[in-house]
Amino acid sequence: MTTYRIACIPGDGIGTEVVPAACEVLEAVGAAHDLEFRFTGFDWSCERFTREGAMMPPDGLDRLREHDAILLGAVGYPGVPDHVSLWGLLIPIRRAFDQYVNLRPVRVFEGVPGPLRDASGTDLVIVRENTEGEYSEVGGRMFSGTPDEFAVQESVFSRRGITRVVDYALDLADERGRSLTSATKSNGLIHTMPFWDEIVEERCAERPSVSWESEHIDALAAKLVLDSRKYDVIVASNLFGDILSDLAAGVAGSIGIAPSGNIDPERRNPSMFEPVHGSAPDIAGQGIANPLGTVWAAALMLDHLGHDDAASDVIRAMERLLTDGPRTPDLGGGATTTEVTRALLDLL
Ligand code: NAI
Ligand code: MG
Repeated sequence: MTTYRIACIPGDGIGTEVVPAACEVLEAVGAAHDLEFRFTGFDWSCERFTREGAMMPPDGLDRLREHDAILLGAVGYPGVPDHVSLWGLLIPIRRAFDQYVNLRPVRVFEGVPGPLRDASGTDLVIVRENTEGEYSEVGGRMFSGTPDEFAVQESVFSRRGITRVVDYALDLADERGRSLTSATKSNGLIHTMPFWDEIVEERCAERPSVSWESEHIDALAAKLVLDSRKYDVIVASNLFGDILSDLAAGVAGSIGIAPSGNIDPERRNPSMFEPVHGSAPDIAGQGIANPLGTVWAAALMLDHLGHDDAASDVIRAMERLLTDGPRTPDLGGGATTTEVTRALLDLL
């Protein structure tokens, strides 16, 4: 029996509904694979912010550090500005734990009606740089409240940062046996993106087993909609990867299914797994949130912990569930979170 300590941060809104569902799934699949999960719950959220003035306690990161992985729901709620919830919890965790890869698989599952006529068979992974790039704290605002007011936000691209994320994407493309696409915009961003392209080219030259190409982000966005099946692994900067992965999740039919892993590939720190979606205040408390995004995130966690057999069991159960139902309303069904979770547990 292998035991894992998992930190659970349900967060806000439907986060508190989908995380318990994923924990049940982990327990069930763990029982079949001789794995034990010890969950520690943390109530870090916008609710906590409203009560105590901070998303998490001052020693929050140290407490997380004692765990093998982190399972997160979503943070953000009306009344607390989104930059507070993001910069008060998610971004500090990603940076302190150097989770420099944001892994976002996208698949069009059989039985899931997508918005496109022909996207069936889409199976791709977006590898988003997660700690630098456009989401930087460098910059500032001057002359506030005057007609001369302005804001400057600097992007930060480092050789080390680009190299390691591109290498991760190359490993993944190699493993999947297909191809790599690099998202660029070197025609518009004349300093950072040519630098990005240069390093991509250098790294790819060392990996002749992977075929690769570079595409401008705007054209890539259009092609992802027109021909999503063509893509396998896409590597992108923080901002481009963020936008592209929500677009791809939309192409796949529901944001309720899409998962995301914030990974420290060197395993010095716990990695964090979460659904792509947010706290969905519009449906929170109704018991109808789709738990599958968080369940798939839990499968990514199993994979990261070295249990790809257990992860495959979860994915296979999801595939069958999506084909045969029951489904939550976001997928056109009428089932509750609990009903879908129960059906998944039965399949497992
Ligand atoms: P959202 O993802 O919460 O909701 C967008 C739409 O998708 C809503 O109509 C919602 O009902 C639906 N939806 C999302 N997840 C679903 C699920 N599992 N099942 C069924 N339907 C689902 O995005 P929105 O509305 O832009 O953001 C709401 C809050 O969440 C904001 O405060 C935002 O900052 C936060 N957020 C947090 C994230 C995180 O913690 N990583 C990521 C994205 C947003
Ligand atoms: Mg996003």
